[in-house]
Amino acid sequence: SFGIDRTNSMGINLANDDQLRALAEQVNAASRNDWRAAPLVPGANLTGPSIAVTNPADRRETVGQWQAADSATVELALKNAVAAQDAWNATPAASRAAILEHAAKMLEDRMPQYIAMCTKEAGKTMSDGVAEVREAVDFLRYYGAQARKLFAPEALPGPTGESNTLQMSGRGVFVCISPWNFPLAIFLGQVSAALAAGNAVIAKPAEQTNLIGYYAVKLLHEAGIPEAVLQFLPGDGATVGAALTRDPRIAGVAFTGSTDTARAINRALAARDAAIGVLIAETGGQNALIADSSSLPEQVVKDAIASAFTSAGQRCSAARVLFVQDDIADKVTSMLGGAMAELKVGDPGLLSTDVGPVIDEDALAMLKEHAARMDKEATKIAEVALDGDAAHGSFFAPRAYALKSLDQLHKEIFGPVLHVVRWKADQLDSVIDAINATGYGLTLGIHSRIDETVEKIASRIKVGNCYVNRNQIGAVVGVQPFGGQNLSGTGPKAGGPHYLPRFTTEKTVTVNT
Ligand code: NAD
Ligand code: ALA
Repeated sequence: SFGIDRTNSMGINLANDDQLRALAEQVNAASRNDWRAAPLVPGANLTGPSIAVTNPADRRETVGQWQAADSATVELALKNAVAAQDAWNATPAASRAAILEHAAKMLEDRMPQYIAMCTKEAGKTMSDGVAEVREAVDFLRYYGAQARKLFAPEALPGPTGESNTLQMSGRGVFVCISPWNFPLAIFLGQVSAALAAGNAVIAKPAEQTNLIGYYAVKLLHEAGIPEAVLQFLPGDGATVGAALTRDPRIAGVAFTGSTDTARAINRALAARDAAIGVLIAETGGQNALIADSSSLPEQVVKDAIASAFTSAGQRCSAARVLFVQDDIADKVTSMLGGAMAELKVGDPGLLSTDVGPVIDEDALAMLKEHAARMDKEATKIAEVALDGDAAHGSFFAPRAYALKSLDQLHKEIFGPVLHVVRWKADQLDSVIDAINATGYGLTLGIHSRIDETVEKIASRIKVGNCYVNRNQIGAVVGVQPFGGQNLSGTGPKAGGPHYLPRFTTEKTVTVNT
């Protein structure tokens, strides 16, 4: 618990049919076609056009409208944030925490409404939606509880006649930039940490999930966060995101998204004639699962499927490459094909659906391009069937390919594609070297019943989250602090004890008594 007093959200028991059916009815009742998102910036004069938001599972269905921030609104948001910073920073940490904890309870109570948005705007299945809301609730509580502890002034032992205290303070205005694949959990994770630490926040959601971000910010305002302390600024990354991150008035950026964007933000922060800005970046991965001949093929297949295809593979943590030892490879491959045939791809609003759509047509085109190359350069193990309705949405059939080597993958493939590479008993070191050589370091799965093998892989592999004999997705806040190294991010880990301090500055006060 790292000395923090809190518990994780209980959520819904998805194994209980009655609870699940009741939830599905509530989610259905909460679905709308008139959700609206616009900048939440006090004093802004909003004039831009409304842009339609459609359901990724069926583009014929409009679910809402959003409006982007123009340059005057960006400027006003920065001014408002600077003006709000000192008072928020001076608000006792316990009061900031209490608002976040109140917001957590409100979010829990409104779970169906937020799941409905996750389904209709982001194509999330019902179980993904539950997990998304739970994780967001956990972040609110975790950073609230951590702020109470971190901001209690600490007296330090020293010579007689002198008192020394270490005082924590917010760093200044933070810009939070999030991706579409966790539009509520990562969005609120960044925002709640920055707020808990005493920083005014400008939150820029991903272009694909403005509605969810908007209603999350509205909830925090309702819970008691002042409107100028948390502003919502939807817009294009290359314009609104870039304008925010190059501004000298901001103290730092909490970013989750692609490695290329993290680099661009790092350059923008460094180029400013201003205090050195902080960048907390959580980025992509080329995540592997290593299974040796002592592992159980049934368990390997179950965990590989969960890790590769949950959330349509649109998780930074998802398994992309299964390295399976020769002796069990035929069995694993044939079981994998059989298990994939059971996957149901379709409307994420249906309880029977395992895999929903990918986020948009760009993502679909990227996956189709990859599949076309794999069809030529690799051997297809399985491809899940799509039904006729899939043509109305951005659906990509989950598939698996046998590769000769990891070199055949040139970048992160962000979707439901699993690649399988065989290895021989004397090749474990070169498998580990090949994974490390990708430069990414986010998650790794290990399946083995030999302790020495597990220890060897875990100690040599350069990743942030290593999972043994289980799936490798769904890190739990405060239990499995999450985040990678090298090309996968700067750290510190989200939902871990070192995250909040990164949003703060420290002051030592020494008094001659
Ligand atoms: P992306 O980098 O394209 O976009 C992420 C955010 O950055 C969006 O809000 C976008 O508008 C903004 N942005 C884009 N260009 C910008 C710029 N020049 N300046 C400022 N902001 C800019 O990523 P994506 O496609 O939305 O998300 C998928 C990626 O996110 C994948 O690589 C995935 O692995 C990664 N991801 C990582 C984690 C993690 O915790 N490590 C979690 C989720 C997703
Ligand atoms: N935190 C998310 C997971 O672990 C990305 O799957």
